[in-house]
Amino acid sequence: MNDTFLRACRREPVDRTPVWFMRQAGRYMPEYRALREKHTLLTLCRTPELAVEVTLQPIDALGVDAAILFSDLLLPLEPLGIPFDFKAGEGPVIERVVRSADDVSRLRRFEPREALRVVLEAIRLLRRALDGRVPLIGFAGAPFTLASYAIEGGHSNNFAATKSLMYQDAPAWHRFASLLAELMGDYLRAQVEAGAQAVQVFDSWVGALSLADYREFVLPHVRTLFERLKGLDVPTIHFGTGTGHLLEAQREGGGDVIGLDWRTPLDTGWKRLEGAAVQGNLDPTLLFAPRERLLAGVDDVLAQAGGRPGHVFNLGHGILPGTPVENVKAVVEHVHARTGR
Ligand code: CP3
Repeated sequence: MNDTFLRACRREPVDRTPVWFMRQAGRYMPEYRALREKHTLLTLCRTPELAVEVTLQPIDALGVDAAILFSDLLLPLEPLGIPFDFKAGEGPVIERVVRSADDVSRLRRFEPREALRVVLEAIRLLRRALDGRVPLIGFAGAPFTLASYAIEGGHSNNFAATKSLMYQDAPAWHRFASLLAELMGDYLRAQVEAGAQAVQVFDSWVGALSLADYREFVLPHVRTLFERLKGLDVPTIHFGTGTGHLLEAQREGGGDVIGLDWRTPLDTGWKRLEGAAVQGNLDPTLLFAPRERLLAGVDDVLAQAGGRPGHVFNLGHGILPGTPVENVKAVVEHVHARTGR
């Protein structure tokens, strides 16, 4: 079994630096686009056999050191009572947005083992299909990022509606965020019981908050979520983007591994995260650069990690549509060749 990813998460020495990519399964891959011609994104997510097939596509094509469950961050919104759909070219569209204390009180607490059992079934099938080739990562959204979709109704550039709820009705915000923290904690526990060998908490957009607002409105809930994962024998990864000003606070929130994006140099970011492993942090758009420029970027990340135990190579955010597959593959090979002993 290739356990370099799990060892790096635990800051143990490894034979070579493990590498995987956020959105390693997706539209940049011809195999994925072929399946998407036949099925909607939500059908792929809700049909265990299809989710397994998509999860395995990059394992076969790229030689990465971990698999990430193919699913979507927003699936838990539906059983909460917030239906949504993905519209071509627009991304997610939420039908009934959450904007007031009344909206929050209408939300339904649910049991992930029931409401999201298709996801757990995909995990069970995946462990069998992977057969120890590489570890399987499960994931869920952090309270801020998940709430922001429910409140904004889709993606946002300034998170004005989300921040407005915080400022105008802090108790309603805190009720919503703590409900999400508890549910996502339970969901991740259920994923681990089903076979996930590590879990990543995506707080992709939390960098939009000031440090003071993060501490007041988000940190207590992130802590609740990670507290609920205590006692599980799997590494936890805490990911966000644009969080150069939040790293110490995120570390307080929890996570054995902290994600860094390309805006923060890996060496100075890591210095501020005493005792944690780090994951990152190549700029995903470098995958569009000429090969020499791309690999120089990879070398720079590796030099900043300096061969210290506890580095998981990844991008600072997900692979973008249109990314040339051969460049992704070249990064995997380069990281392995440069760091292999
Ligand atoms: O390979 C993997 O990383 C696993 C699959 C995965 C998906 N979504 C599938 C997907 C993961 C980990 C996610 C998480 C997710 N979903 C996040 C957090 C990660 C991040 O990017 O920060 C967020 C914010 C979402 C919500 C979401 N899903 C948005 C905003 C969109 C539309 C934007 C876009 O890229 O089009 C999606 C759609 C989505 N989820 C796609 C995939 C492969 C692309 C859509 C498609 O096939 O039509």
